[in-house]
Amino acid sequence: MRADSAEPVRLKDYRVPDYLIDKVELNVKLHPTAARVASRLFLRPNPQVLRPNPQGRPGAALVLDGDGLNALSVALDGVELDLATASLTPDQLTLANPPQRDFTLEIETELNPSANSRLMGLYRSGSAYCTQCEPEGFRRITYFLDRPDVLSVYTVRVEAERAQAPLLLSNGNLVERGEMDGGRHYAIWRDPFPKPCYLFALVGGDLGSVHDEFITKSGRRVQLGIHVEHGKEPQAAYAMDALKRAMAWDETAFSREYDLDVFNIVAVSDFNMGAMENKGLNIFNDKYVLASPATATDADYAHIEAVIAHEYFHNWTGNRITCRDWFQLCLKEGLTVFRDHEFSSDMRSRAVHRISDVRALRAAQFAEDAGPLAHSVRPEAYYEINNFYTATIYEKGAEVIRMLKVLIGDEAFATGMDLYFRRYDGTAATVEDFISCFAEASSRDLAAFFRWYRQSGTPLVEAEGAYDPEARTFTLEFRQSSKPTPGQGVKEPFVIPIALGLIGRDGDLPLKTGGENGASEAELARGVFELAEERRKITFHDIPARPVPSILRGFSAPVRLDYPASEADLIALISRDGDSFNRWQAAQTYASRLLMRSVAEIDGGRNPTQDAGFVDALGTVLHDSADPAFTAQMIALPSEADIARDIGKDVDPDAIHAARDALRRAIGRGLAEALLSVYARLAENGPYSPDAEAAGRRALRNAALDLYCAGDPFEGARLATRQFETPDTMTNEFAALSTLAQTPGEARETALETFYRRHQTEPLVIDKWFALQAAIPEPDTLDRIKRLMGHSAFSLNNPNRVRSLIGAFAATNQTQFNAADGSGYEFVASLVLDLDEKNPQVAARLLAAFKSWRSLETGRRRRAEAALRRAKARENLSADVKDIVDRSLA
Ligand code: PHE
Ligand code: ZN
Repeated sequence: MRADSAEPVRLKDYRVPDYLIDKVELNVKLHPTAARVASRLFLRPNPQVLRPNPQGRPGAALVLDGDGLNALSVALDGVELDLATASLTPDQLTLANPPQRDFTLEIETELNPSANSRLMGLYRSGSAYCTQCEPEGFRRITYFLDRPDVLSVYTVRVEAERAQAPLLLSNGNLVERGEMDGGRHYAIWRDPFPKPCYLFALVGGDLGSVHDEFITKSGRRVQLGIHVEHGKEPQAAYAMDALKRAMAWDETAFSREYDLDVFNIVAVSDFNMGAMENKGLNIFNDKYVLASPATATDADYAHIEAVIAHEYFHNWTGNRITCRDWFQLCLKEGLTVFRDHEFSSDMRSRAVHRISDVRALRAAQFAEDAGPLAHSVRPEAYYEINNFYTATIYEKGAEVIRMLKVLIGDEAFATGMDLYFRRYDGTAATVEDFISCFAEASSRDLAAFFRWYRQSGTPLVEAEGAYDPEARTFTLEFRQSSKPTPGQGVKEPFVIPIALGLIGRDGDLPLKTGGENGASEAELARGVFELAEERRKITFHDIPARPVPSILRGFSAPVRLDYPASEADLIALISRDGDSFNRWQAAQTYASRLLMRSVAEIDGGRNPTQDAGFVDALGTVLHDSADPAFTAQMIALPSEADIARDIGKDVDPDAIHAARDALRRAIGRGLAEALLSVYARLAENGPYSPDAEAAGRRALRNAALDLYCAGDPFEGARLATRQFETPDTMTNEFAALSTLAQTPGEARETALETFYRRHQTEPLVIDKWFALQAAIPEPDTLDRIKRLMGHSAFSLNNPNRVRSLIGAFAATNQTQFNAADGSGYEFVASLVLDLDEKNPQVAARLLAAFKSWRSLETGRRRRAEAALRRAKARENLSADVKDIVDRSLA
């Protein structure tokens, strides 16, 4: 356990390591409660550090990190050190005067994997042994220079009882395996690629395996293995398929080939995060591996494809080129998310994918950026690095790269990527290194662009348009501004690429400028304009009539756009914009406006007025649903959290819920016939396929059912019940259950029971059952959750269970988590404190659900603050939870 230090780690304090570890030999003897780890480290003074100094003083002390370790012995160059006198604590091993030449250290530690409830270091999941080392878990296995800029070649010998762990895996290629006396056996793995210790992994267990092979474009035969709980092998087929597609895609899209003879994926049911990119041995939360039509929804399939690809892509962006320090986390994560988004866009519909990525970005990252936990994509200080695996590092990090590509163009972007791979392969790099490749490739100064990495917060872009019929010009004026965020009062302007078009009667008008308020040829040709200062005016010429501007096409920058489009403009965009993202955005903007107006009406004690124009527009969209997946996105209203964010302050979640409900009812009633006909027309025919097109049809059909049910709960429930009672796929079964869950009463409870009975042997399906119940927007829900916590299927020890029941409540149940009496806050805060003793990382993530507390109305704000203060007052908080509490209250 790390002592909670008062001082943060700061980027500006970075120094190269005093010592390097070129080679690591590990010998791990697995045992449930007393595993032995013998490590031999081959060290030398870092030649980059000036030494020996002229005075001939000895070099710096060697300080190895530990975390709660129990050392049995330490030997320097073969000579055992006296543990009583060596400077050794569970959290540190210090050699005051290490040799100033090559030397070896041998360290033996003993671990108790069964007692490791934090799931960092070596732990057990079910009967298997596995490891998680990123970011600072290796120090829970042995003393080491636990920092990403120390790269070593690892040879790992794993030994275990054969019956308990027939499968023994580590990074790299298998060198040798053999039997031993007493029913034990061993395997030796060697990874030829130097890597930081956070990429170390080891697995031992009795698992079922699926094998396949991939031949790289240069002819390397790669043995692929996916290892899952016995009996679940068929559920790994889709993950294997996704892996092979990801490997092939990276060869064409980024010219990246795989570099070892084997690639293993292990699925475990106890995992803090989604998955981990350990070299040649990815370890996964089983939720992102296992799928069958009867247990996984279409959304689950899409997630599996994305996460499998993400971890695989890390092999180049993260592993071959790693991070110099943890401040550079976005170097691997933002870039790898960018890559997996590109992959998924190529595998599915790019337009629909962009919409769902932006939805997710706004839900998680915009919310983070608007609250007390805001931080920059490349932070400059941290108390606890575990808390920086955030939407800002991942999703905004990806958006920044996407913007870069839009700004410099596809060709220069590709050249910059190649340069990056060539120049930094085998090193631990920085964001500056990365960006310099694109500056070179595009011959552009990217210093101002770099502000995206340094400044936190979501910029606001306000735009106004003026048409001059005499001059036949249309002038757009843009203005950017940024609110203060923690530690950043004033900001410099961002470089914002604004993709835009002007829509006339027959579609996009040619873009021409000239003279004053002109734009560059390149801008006009690509329809992308740079807002690099606080303001910019652009005057477009030869515009025959007032056009409808389509601004920020494809969501070309992660900003909030405020343009006073008329309702007629929005309708025009919904029906005619050539950019499908902005068609969707116009519908969202329209809905959001209506909903904000309704919320004000409800708060003023009035009934919300309905707007026929919007319902009609959706009706038109439903009629020509050439692309069902897109139409499903078009008819999905902004979420309650989206509306809360648009309102921004003094938020009343009950009013938002009521307003959204009323609009759903109005749509359901107004479009009942159209919704029913979509539902009938898109009935399943043929066998299940998880592909995007088939998934899109199911998405639209189920969205239609849900809206129809909002308008006619009785008839809707009848249809949903029929769908639920004849389940063909989990997608349709769960959609029907979700629709039934809208209406309180016996039908709902019976369906919930039936669902449990059908799926009780599949924990991942039961997670959906937990999450669905946690999201019910009714005052009884908290009691229901408390009851479910006593259910035999629930366990506080399993992160997936905690996230599906408690996490879903805090993240999605706007009315009940934010219940006016503060009961939701008290419940979650108490649970965080209980959980903190077991698993601080999961506890801290749960607590981050309070991130928007300051935007609530006074009563709720006071209650949320009280819950946070109560948590803060608890003694012995983990560094993880303490960091979130402190920043939330700052
Ligand atoms: N590096 C992992 C990924 O994004 C995430 C992770 C972080 C997993 C920390 C475990 C612990 O691919
Ligand atoms: Zn990642």
